Amino acid sequence: MRIPIERHSSTAVYLQICDRIRHLIETGALRSGDKLPSIRTLSASTRVNKLTVIEAYNVLAAEGLVEARQGSGYFVCPAKIDRVESKHQFAPPQDTIVLEQPPLPPRIEEFQGGSSFNLYMKSVQARQQPGTIDLSSGFSLASGLDDLPRVARRAVKQISGSLFNYDLPQGQFVLRQQIARLLVQQHGLNVTADNLIITNGSKQGILLAVHHYVKPGDWVLVESPTWYGMLSLLYNMGARVIGIPMTPEGINLELLEKNLYTYRPKLIFTVSTLHNPTGLTTSLDHRRQLLALAEKYDCVVLEDNAYEGLNFEPVPVPIKALDTSDRVIYAGTFSKTIMPGIRVGYLVVTGEDYQPLVERKLHYDIHVSTVSQAIVSEYLASGHYRHHLAHLQAVHLQSRNAMLNAMQRHYPPATYWTIPKGGTFLWVQMPAHLPLAEICQKALARGVFVAEGTPFFPGGQQSYPALRLNFTLLPEQIEQGIAILGEILQKYV
Ligand SMILES: Cc1ncc(COP(=O)(O)O)c(C=O)c1O
Repeated sequence: MRIPIERHSSTAVYLQICDRIRHLIETGALRSGDKLPSIRTLSASTRVNKLTVIEAYNVLAAEGLVEARQGSGYFVCPAKIDRVESKHQFAPPQDTIVLEQPPLPPRIEEFQGGSSFNLYMKSVQARQQPGTIDLSSGFSLASGLDDLPRVARRAVKQISGSLFNYDLPQGQFVLRQQIARLLVQQHGLNVTADNLIITNGSKQGILLAVHHYVKPGDWVLVESPTWYGMLSLLYNMGARVIGIPMTPEGINLELLEKNLYTYRPKLIFTVSTLHNPTGLTTSLDHRRQLLALAEKYDCVVLEDNAYEGLNFEPVPVPIKALDTSDRVIYAGTFSKTIMPGIRVGYLVVTGEDYQPLVERKLHYDIHVSTVSQAIVSEYLASGHYRHHLAHLQAVHLQSRNAMLNAMQRHYPPATYWTIPKGGTFLWVQMPAHLPLAEICQKALARGVFVAEGTPFFPGGQQSYPALRLNFTLLPEQIEQGIAILGEILQKYV
């Protein structure tokens, strides 16, 4: 079997192997029961590491395309995989939401409803309640991290001396080098350690960038819906926000241009890959067009790639990789791939804005915990991270498929959902008349916590009823949670 590998491609090598084998199966060149080359043979013929071949086979196994047989190797599955008949449709109304004034802070009694603060607090509490099925939160399954305590102990031992000193505001050089290498190799960015600022999660990086580029009263364009954490940040600093509707291809580019022309905003905020909350990923062409518009109207793009690396299908290079005029600021994080509690994220800034942003970081909180940085650095150095990502991609794919299958069986007609290529969320659009707040309360009373769509629209001006569902749970929890939710929904339809 010949598998050509493009070493300079932005697609990771193990994904190239997956794509090729998947193609051979789909075109019938490889048939049910055929034996795949052994890990050693494929590793030798493609001249890649054995771990890379294992990663590829793991992904194909999770997709149900191949199976490992004890002592005999990998075989093409006899059964056709469940390709998840889908009701994939995403056709939201294209109404732009213009917020001249930040919304007033919600009154205490409104915290009972869908405010972003409330959603966050409830989500943290739900995770602490044994038995709750939390379909609302946004991070990966806590699996495959058995080696982390050992890695952490080693890391802390190595840096114990330097804990008695303050460190660089932009973060440790070795960690910045490691992240830069990862961004170059896996995401096609043209960056070095000197373009990186290590931040307390990507949220802090986003905060630094927003405060650098936006003053109170300035206009900012966001996708609608968008990540509610960004909305509350913008309201709190007094920005005026315009929500440009999402389409299945990403932000509506025609409306984006109209609003760029009319309002001359300071910033466009986009989650271009595995978008929170819809799970959508924009195409390369869409990214090019968005960047061209930002150039034309001289606007900065803040690209939040919080779900970077969690794709189980290929995704295009980030907008930052297409940026030749230092117009795009890129935020990444290890919250979703390692753990949120470690609070290590990063900003990629090329050009003259790097230094003022480093100074701003010093002004805010000096630097990210030396211990956290050392643990992430050691985790990257030991090769565990790469392996862990492949593991997460495989289990998340299984979980996504479990959720799609469960929704197909349990949800009423006229509910439609997105099919993400990775990440942790999908987005469900509901029939217009459904009282979603009430439905979510009922689900919570039965131990299922779900995020209503409202907080993801600027100003909470929900333009259609929707739910954001986190699929990174165990398949049995997903089945149980979706069955309960479906049962409640059916009563309203
Ligand atoms: C789109 C998006 N950006 C940024 C963040 C912040 O992540 P962190 O600060 O933990 O890196 C989140 C967290 O949920 C997110 O969903």
